[in-house]
Amino acid sequence: MDDYRTLNRAKWDERAPAHAASPDYAFDRFSADPDFISDVVRFDLPRLGDLSGLRGVHLQCHIGTDTLSLSRLGAKMSGLDFSPASVAQARRLAKAVGAGIDFVEADVYDAAEVLGREAFDLVFTGIGALCWLPDIRRWAVVVADVLRPGGRLFIREGHPMLWALGDGRKDGLLVVDYPYFERDEPMIFDEAGTYVQTDVAFTQNLTHSWNHGLGEIVSALFDAGMDLTMLVEHDCVPWDALPGQMEQIGGGEHRLMDRPWRVPHSYTLQAVKRPSPDGSRGDRSPLRP
Ligand SMILES: C[S@@+](CC[C@H](N)C(=O)[O-])C[C@H]1O[C@@H](n2cnc3c(N)ncnc32)[C@H](O)[C@@H]1O
Repeated sequence: MDDYRTLNRAKWDERAPAHAASPDYAFDRFSADPDFISDVVRFDLPRLGDLSGLRGVHLQCHIGTDTLSLSRLGAKMSGLDFSPASVAQARRLAKAVGAGIDFVEADVYDAAEVLGREAFDLVFTGIGALCWLPDIRRWAVVVADVLRPGGRLFIREGHPMLWALGDGRKDGLLVVDYPYFERDEPMIFDEAGTYVQTDVAFTQNLTHSWNHGLGEIVSALFDAGMDLTMLVEHDCVPWDALPGQMEQIGGGEHRLMDRPWRVPHSYTLQAVKRPSPDGSRGDRSPLRP
């Protein structure tokens, strides 16, 4: 099972410098304008609320552009990623703009050991993060472990229904081809490209990934001691998730050209860690026997 880490890390290590050089990640705009924030964080401004003074951690932060954006909104941010090349680019960006962000190289499942338990008011993650994790329940425990009681998870992520869709058909029908539910077996892809503009030719292209159903994500969080406070499904997603079938609609968002109301493209979810005076993870779901 550990092989998935080696494979996936090689992919992200190779792509990190190319991503940092791509206009789509806008390193130059972060440097030129101290108020500039990423499209991903801007999209959710109405839902993020006031971040001033919060201790936040961005899990699977990649090259740190969303982490820096949250820092610019007033949070005291840390970022965690298992790709050393990604962490190096994130540190370079933060240094270039004089942002005091602590970037840590670690597997997300080790976050509580590396960053400390109950150390944060806010966990931020998403946009192509959960699909790299084989076990959503283990992830949810990590999220609950790093949050203080009353602390908040904020995630915007590609919708598992979108990730279950196969490649485009000429008749425009959407076909469910990949697992919607989490399975033990990974989905194995060998794809040379990436999701931003770049001329770099990649060689580390083999990946292992997993889908997680929306109910599985919500239940995993609930069972880990988190109460859902927001779940909004969106008809857009911040990358070209179905090439040839999507159009750009501004703000870095993409939407199906043909009847986009057929399928949720992404979601924003928030959950708050339940206070647990006895130190337990809280009650089991009332929906379960
Ligand atoms: C698609 S990127 C996330 C993108 C991010 N939302 C952004 O746009 O900058 C996925 C990130 O997850 C990281 N990652 C994948 N598996 C991981 C793991 N097991 N532990 C920590 N980081 C992981 C990769 O190194 C990569 O930087």
